Amino acid sequence: MRNLISMLDLRGRWMSLIELAEDMKENPFSYSRSLEGKTLALLFEKPSTRTRASFECAMHQMGGNSMFLSPRDLQLGRGEPIKDTARVLSRYADAISYRGHEHSKTLELAQFSSIPVINALDESEHPCQALADIFTIWEEMGSFDLKLCYLGDGNNVCNSLVIASSLAGMEMVCSCPEGRDPKTLDLARKLGGKVRVERDPKKAADGADVLYTDVWISMGEKEKNLELFRPYQLDSEKLELAKEDCLVMHCLPAHRGEEITEEVLESENSVVFDQAENRLHVQKALLFHLMLITSDLG
Ligand code: CP
Ligand code: NVA
Repeated sequence: MRNLISMLDLRGRWMSLIELAEDMKENPFSYSRSLEGKTLALLFEKPSTRTRASFECAMHQMGGNSMFLSPRDLQLGRGEPIKDTARVLSRYADAISYRGHEHSKTLELAQFSSIPVINALDESEHPCQALADIFTIWEEMGSFDLKLCYLGDGNNVCNSLVIASSLAGMEMVCSCPEGRDPKTLDLARKLGGKVRVERDPKKAADGADVLYTDVWISMGEKEKNLELFRPYQLDSEKLELAKEDCLVMHCLPAHRGEEITEEVLESENSVVFDQAENRLHVQKALLFHLMLITSDLG
C-alpha cells in the first residue's frame, strides 16, 4: 500500500493498522520520535476540524512536522494544475493528506505524486473516518459479529463504511431514502460483504448493535429536500429498537434536529467523542505505516 485513496486500499492491512493504533494509544511515548524529520502536507480544499487537527497532532506527537496548505494561499487557487502541485510538494514533503471535491482529482494528485497520498475526504469516500470507526467498534465491542445500521444519506462516509464492514465481515444495513443508497454496494457484494439495503428505518434499527448516521447535506452539495430524510433521523424511537448496549456513532460535525436528535447524541449510548479521538490514533498508525514501512519497502 503506497496510498490511501479508498477504504479498499486497506484490504489485508486494516487489522494490523488497528492493532498498531491500539498500541500507539496505550504507549504513545514509544513512538514520540518515530517520524523525526518527516513532513506531512495537508492540502485542504474544504473546512475541517477533526481531520486537520488530528493529522497535525499526529505528526507532532511522533516528532515530525505538518504544513497546512489552503488553496486560498496557494497558486492552486489561481489555477495551477493539481498535477504540478503534486510534483512540487513531492520534492519537499514525505506524504500528502488531501481533502477535495471530485474523486478524480484525488486520483490525479496520487498519480502525479511520488510520495504517499491520503484521501482526507472527497465526494466519494472518507477512508480515514471508516478506519477510526471500525477501530472504535473493535475497542468497544471486541468483535465484528455485529449488526451495524446506517441511517440517512448514503454519502462518502457511508461508502467507506460499507467497504470497511465488508472487509471486517460485519453485517451492515443501510437505510436511506430512495435514490440515496451508497455507491459501494456492488463492491461490497464482490468482497462477499454482508451489506444490504432496508428502506424501512425501523426494521433497519431493530436489534442493531451500532446505529450510525451522518449529515444529510455534505460539504459542497446543493440544497436537498430534507423532508425525504426525516423518517431516517436517528432519534430515541430507533434507539429503543436497537440493542440496549447499542453504540451511537456519528463522524461529526452533527446537525442536531436533522440527522440526529440532541437526546440521542448526548445519550449514554453515544461514543461520538471516543470515535473522534480515535481519528488521531489510527492516523498515527497510518502515517507510521506509509512514511516508514512502505518507504522501506521502496
Ligand atoms: N469527521 C470529520 O472528518 O470531521 P472534519 O470535517 O471536522 O474533519
Ligand atoms: N459527509 C460529510 C462528512 C463530513 C466529515 C461531508 O462530506 O461533508
